Amino acid sequence: MKVLVVGGGGREHAITTALSRNSDAEIYAVMARKNPGIARLAREIFIGKETLTGPVTDFAVTKGIDIAVIGPEAPLEAGLVDALEHAGIPCVGPTRAAARLETDKAFCRTMMEEHGIAGCPRYRVFHAADEAVDFVRDFDGDLAVKPIGLTGGKGVRIMGEQVDREGAIAYIREIGGNVVLEERLIGEEITLQAFVDGAHLVPMPLVQDHKRAYEGDLGPNTGGMGSYSLPDHKFPFMTRDDYEKALSIMTDAVTGMAREGVPYRGILYGQFMNTADGPKVIEFNARFGDPEAMNVLSLLSSDFCENICHLTEGTLSASQVTFAKKATVCKYIVPAQYPEKPHAGDPIHIGDTGEAVVYYANVVEENGMLITQTSRSLALVGLGDTLDEAERIAESAASAVSGNVRHRRDIGTGAVLERRCTHMRELL
Ligand code: AMP
Ligand code: GLY
Repeated sequence: MKVLVVGGGGREHAITTALSRNSDAEIYAVMARKNPGIARLAREIFIGKETLTGPVTDFAVTKGIDIAVIGPEAPLEAGLVDALEHAGIPCVGPTRAAARLETDKAFCRTMMEEHGIAGCPRYRVFHAADEAVDFVRDFDGDLAVKPIGLTGGKGVRIMGEQVDREGAIAYIREIGGNVVLEERLIGEEITLQAFVDGAHLVPMPLVQDHKRAYEGDLGPNTGGMGSYSLPDHKFPFMTRDDYEKALSIMTDAVTGMAREGVPYRGILYGQFMNTADGPKVIEFNARFGDPEAMNVLSLLSSDFCENICHLTEGTLSASQVTFAKKATVCKYIVPAQYPEKPHAGDPIHIGDTGEAVVYYANVVEENGMLITQTSRSLALVGLGDTLDEAERIAESAASAVSGNVRHRRDIGTGAVLERRCTHMRELL
């Protein structure tokens, strides 16, 4: 089976690794910059812009690709799935219209409201800065200010956290008034990813990401500094009932999209705030999370190639998809000054990473050396029977990486998990 992987980050290296466990999989890859990890596993790579649907589709057709897996959101928004499917190549990833669930925050909220889907925070959509500013001045409480379009996970500003009321107003003026304003949600964030075939949804283990740049959840938001999951695939700070509610919200969203006439097929990523009032949707993404893909795909014990075939054929069922009952901890190594002033071009050296899985992200290989770029460099994933064991493996491997880089030592520690549980108890 010939599989095309689109994208060149840590998430796509994890996707490629999972596919390559099937010895019949012949992997082809498209990416803007050569990811050394993906390149090693691929039969052939095409270096080019992932959003240029013409050249990518030509490559896929020429190589006789049977199925394509789209990693990032930008090619989805550019209509790559539409183009590939038009050429007869089934895709793991939604069409441009269905990807609006992620790429258009106003569409996402309106869809939830129209289909009566639970977990939608109070929100208002604006297209003019003056009206949005008036709303902020009159609103009693804190708000999340969200630009309507794609922002690479860095465009949301939270009143009471990163900005005060005047800061929120200044930000609305800066981004020009196309915003969704919604109530600020308080709770614990979790990620629920699922395989979706248009009608059926099969969930993956819950993961918690760490968006903030520095230990103790301080500093600016990033693409994600690391993530962890537990052996039972759940979290002690989320009740069974709240988990079931989050899952129903996801299945209702899939049904809602089908009713809208834009059936959703691909990976659905639900980011939830588990609040005192149950789970609320922060956002949906139309793809695996990065880093969360590295947690769940490292655990996947069924055949990923088979799973994605069922996904594109519309024959998914829960019994086909299995995950090891282990904990995972993923730690990203990033340029020392990431995300504010990351310096590119520094060599990094990987020492003894022990049992950890190494996923390459935004690094290039030059003369046998790994060289940083401006985004996250590489990820170390530890698996273990307990969270402690997984964390020790990931931390020891992360510490073995040297160069002008850093990582968050607190991710996946018992102390952080305990803090999450205490936080949740305090809210209830
Ligand atoms: P996003 O770019 O939508 O992933 O949002 C970035 C971060 O903003 C999320 O990870 C949350 O921590 C935070 N966020 C987004 N929406 C809300 C909200 N309504 N209330 C509180 N925090 C939010
Ligand atoms: N980890 C967050 C994201 O992939 O959007």
